[in-house]
Amino acid sequence: MDVSTEGSKIKALVLAGGTGSRLRPITYTSAKQLVPIANKPILFYGLESIANSGVTEVGVIVGDTRAEVMEALGDGSRFGLKITYIPQDKPLGLAHCVVIAQDFLGDDDFVMYLGDNFILSGIDDFVQAFRDRTDGTCAQILLARVPDPQRFGVAELDEFGRVLRLVEKPPVPPSDLALVGVYLFDKSIHDAVRSIYPSARNELEITDAIDYLITQGRRVESRIVEGYWKDLGEPEALLEGNRLALEMIAPMISGTVDSSSRIEGRVVIELGAQVRSSLVRGPAIIGAGAVIEESFVGPYTAIGQGCVITRSEVENSIILNESRVSDIVRMEGSIIGKRAVVGQRRSLPSASRLVIGDNSTVEFHRG
Ligand code: DAU
Repeated sequence: MDVSTEGSKIKALVLAGGTGSRLRPITYTSAKQLVPIANKPILFYGLESIANSGVTEVGVIVGDTRAEVMEALGDGSRFGLKITYIPQDKPLGLAHCVVIAQDFLGDDDFVMYLGDNFILSGIDDFVQAFRDRTDGTCAQILLARVPDPQRFGVAELDEFGRVLRLVEKPPVPPSDLALVGVYLFDKSIHDAVRSIYPSARNELEITDAIDYLITQGRRVESRIVEGYWKDLGEPEALLEGNRLALEMIAPMISGTVDSSSRIEGRVVIELGAQVRSSLVRGPAIIGAGAVIEESFVGPYTAIGQGCVITRSEVENSIILNESRVSDIVRMEGSIIGKRAVVGQRRSLPSASRLVIGDNSTVEFHRG
């Protein structure tokens, strides 16, 4: 299957290094690509899409969080993939990742996938179009219309839809077409990443490398993403990705639900989880071994493994493994890290006692 009409097979290069600064404090202890949506790490959705597109050989760029990423992905066989890890000492940019992956990539075509990107419809069509090309296209990019293009790489197209220019995070964007974090390249990208200079943020930008190909007169094709795409690097985006992923889960009750509880809608209750005297209204997922007691778990909530939720109402939130929430009415739009404790106690004098990690956000909303 790994054969394109241009004569080389397609590999994948997955970027799972970087710092994840916009998702702190969650990313102080966890790689941003491993933060879960609907209880599954973001990166797993990408690897599943890659496997579905028929690619099997995957290079994964890993940085400071390499131990955790390598433990989660293993040799890739659980995804039907063969993974080669490529360590990156510092996050010097997306094009730098291509530079250090050259031995792995050789002269083969490849799909580059940013590990924090979530594309609901997968990448099969996109990869197939590159396999089928006969016109000498050397790079294929995906674009999406966004309201805030200055946060992304941005494309300028001519009236026929051809890419004229690409620019990374421009203060005055030439269009509302953002570069999605999935790219297809042939071997000509290797010259391009060696011909560019670090940007103002001191990174080797893949956007500049593709722009270099265009200025050299090479053919760069673009497509607009029809379905949902999001870079899940920020809290609001993460909650949105969680909502979408939950809408797709196949309902299944493997844990126990007592007779005074009610389950409504699309709900997964994983093995060993217990729901007592509670209402769980989907879409929602309750992780393995979690306990939900005298509580309401509302739509768009993902509760991680081993969590304990008592006398609380939680909605539209992500709670990571082994956290405890008690006597909270009501938690909404929240992201709680691993092993966190959120609760209320009856004692005088009334006060708030907080032990909050660096870069945390605590907001008490009152009507
Ligand atoms: O999400 C789409 C956007 O991704 C594009 O529109 C931009 O053109 C592109 O530059 C990129 O922008 P970001 O600033 O959001 O990239 P970020 O630094 O978040 O890195 C993307 C992924 O690559 C992330 O999973 C971390 C990983 N990474 C990043 C760098 C800079 C590495 O593995 N190594 C690196 O050196």
